[in-house]
Amino acid sequence: MKDKLDQLRQEFLQDLQQVHNQTTLHELELKFLSRKGALSKMLHSLKELDLSARQQFGKLANNLKIELQNKFTEKEATLNINQTHSQNIDPTLPGFNFPQGHFNPITLMQNKLEDLFTSLGFMVLDGPELESEYFNFTALNIPASHPARDMQDTFYIDYPNEHQEYDLLMRTQTSPMQIRAMQKYGAPLRAIIPGRCFRNEATDSRHEHTFYQLEGIVIDKKINFAHLKSFLEIVGQEMFGAKTKLRMRPKFFPFVEPGNNGEYTCFLCQGKGCRVCKYTGWLEIVGAGLVHPRVLEAGGIDPKIYSGLAFGFGLNRLAMLKYNIDDVRLFNSGDLRFLEQF
Ligand code: DAH
Repeated sequence: MKDKLDQLRQEFLQDLQQVHNQTTLHELELKFLSRKGALSKMLHSLKELDLSARQQFGKLANNLKIELQNKFTEKEATLNINQTHSQNIDPTLPGFNFPQGHFNPITLMQNKLEDLFTSLGFMVLDGPELESEYFNFTALNIPASHPARDMQDTFYIDYPNEHQEYDLLMRTQTSPMQIRAMQKYGAPLRAIIPGRCFRNEATDSRHEHTFYQLEGIVIDKKINFAHLKSFLEIVGQEMFGAKTKLRMRPKFFPFVEPGNNGEYTCFLCQGKGCRVCKYTGWLEIVGAGLVHPRVLEAGGIDPKIYSGLAFGFGLNRLAMLKYNIDDVRLFNSGDLRFLEQF
């Protein structure tokens, strides 16, 4: 038996000397080390020996197995090194250009506003896209019969909530997060909430069923209209340049009183009038106002002690103006020809 082992070893070493490439290396592996190779067969044949012989030769055979495997791995390593050298790599050649992804222009707007508002001490919150009718409308001072609900028709969900009520819908605005933020954090509060909203729209170049808003809310003692104006001015100057002016025109939103539309001087014509601002010199960008006392109450905040301001930007509209995009449907199209421009 010992002779057999020696012979196998000799044979292996001889063959190993002839190995100069991957093919012969593989042949060597098959012949000696594979499941049906010579070494395996040898180990099997040990079974036929009696116990003491088996113990004696078993040890030798195992040592041989380890030796052969080590020699094989060494050879494999030298072959790999030589192979790399033989490919003649030229390290001075320019590297590969890996294509980089692009941010959607809405994300760019969102990131810019998040940076600005966090520098002003705001938290950035996230909220559910699948909302309840209560948070999306009722708590925002829009009761079931209110005509403001007609303007924000949405996708109602045919599935009961945990109280077995059918009141789930896809949120039409980020404003319900005003209530959730007040309930969770109380006063004082400074938060922005960027997020995706949904409406039942007949889509065209200016209307889309899925779009993005950025809501803001500030609650504290003695918050007034001047605070709102200064926050909106800062945003305008940051987004559209230091010379940007703000004008606020009254507009009804049920959850603020007084409510207004914030408009900025057109960044393209500086207020002279052009195609972008439809020759008015002004761009309507943001809905805003002072938080309605009923909304404060719904948020669990005492309107006799605290007051608040709120605003809502349409991120799609901001991005369309900033990058001169003429079709709102491009944002969700996933079209790389569009996305790769940003
Ligand atoms: N949620 C409103 C909309 O979708 C925008 C808005 C208006 C938000 C006034 C506000 C606000 O916070 O005070 O049209």
